[in-house]
Amino acid sequence: MVDLYPLARPFLLRMDPEQAHELTIRALKTGLVPPAGGRDPDILRTRVLGLELPNPIGLAAGFDKNAEVPDAMLKLGFGLVEAGTVTPRPQPGNPRPRLFRIPAAGAVINRFGFNNQGIDAFAGRLEARAERPGAVGANVGKNKETEDAAADYAVGIRRTAPFASYLVVNVSSPNTPGLRTLQSKEALSALLARCLEARKQSGAEPPLLLKVAPDLAEQDKADIAEVVLGSGIDGLIVSNTTIARPDIIPPELAKEAGGLSGRPLMVPSTQVLGEFHRLIGGRVPLVGVGGVASGADAYAKIRAGAALVQLYTALAFNGPALVTRIKRELADLLARDGFRSVAEAVGADHR
Ligand SMILES: Cc1cc2nc3c(=O)[nH]c(=O)nc-3n(C[C@H](O)[C@H](O)[C@H](O)COP(=O)(O)O)c2cc1C
Repeated sequence: MVDLYPLARPFLLRMDPEQAHELTIRALKTGLVPPAGGRDPDILRTRVLGLELPNPIGLAAGFDKNAEVPDAMLKLGFGLVEAGTVTPRPQPGNPRPRLFRIPAAGAVINRFGFNNQGIDAFAGRLEARAERPGAVGANVGKNKETEDAAADYAVGIRRTAPFASYLVVNVSSPNTPGLRTLQSKEALSALLARCLEARKQSGAEPPLLLKVAPDLAEQDKADIAEVVLGSGIDGLIVSNTTIARPDIIPPELAKEAGGLSGRPLMVPSTQVLGEFHRLIGGRVPLVGVGGVASGADAYAKIRAGAALVQLYTALAFNGPALVTRIKRELADLLARDGFRSVAEAVGADHR
């Protein structure tokens, strides 16, 4: 099949960014996706969270909020795909415009606010594909108006656990008022207990991970690590978008509320990842996300402590060929440094 992306790219990047995304999802839904270039290099095969994966490069949450195209994204070469964030009830999210490109910085700011079709549509789609191969995670959140946050997460977990390869409790979006306060020690401990209880009630036992923000004080990180290890959850995703506005962001865009992702997030999110590696030290796997745009970036996340890597923003700027390129570059870097697998390189910077 011919890859039409190079032809479409200039048009997509000139369109309103949210419309470009909607068009991309529609195109992917047709199923006419050019399959990625061949088998993954053997060195990238990895087993994490009990999942056998052809490679450690995942699609981060937010691209496929409604679980409409997980199989198309697996076909593009991702080793795993995270759908969501989904909330129990459908909700429209914030008013448009709510997605802003910053091409010169390789970044975007978004304040979507969990726009999504709700758990019924989401779980139905995951159920319909549950027998297919490929790791698909379900990232769950809360509706804007919900007071008892844990009740919403419990619904998301109960409904998706039977059909998801893994579950993610997202407490780190900057675009739902109060959400990130769930990262504080007592709140987090109570929330994770209810999430694990919900998973038990579902009768299924996919691994359950927590996704955190990069904007955390030292004490927050120590508390989160303690709660993660004490709770018995299975992993940690570091990180979501940042509320910081580094100097590279022009002032007229820096003033837009929302989470910043892409290249400016690479260094700070990898630093936070490294700190969690130090605090958690291999006792549960870490997933590194934030600013990955090359094999070298993915390798840096792995060396800092990530067993898996995810990306989103760079895909929007570079298109699907990026996935194959990152995998090839990563395989070369691992071999260059004498590693025989991804697992061998995890946390190498700390040794
Ligand atoms: C437009 C957009 C929407 C996002 N939506 C979600 C979301 O619904 N849930 C979530 O956990 N993360 C969401 N994210 C965060 C990404 O999953 C990821 O953590 C972050 O963008 C950093 O990775 P990147 O620099 O590769 O994009 C979103 C990111 C972007 C750019």
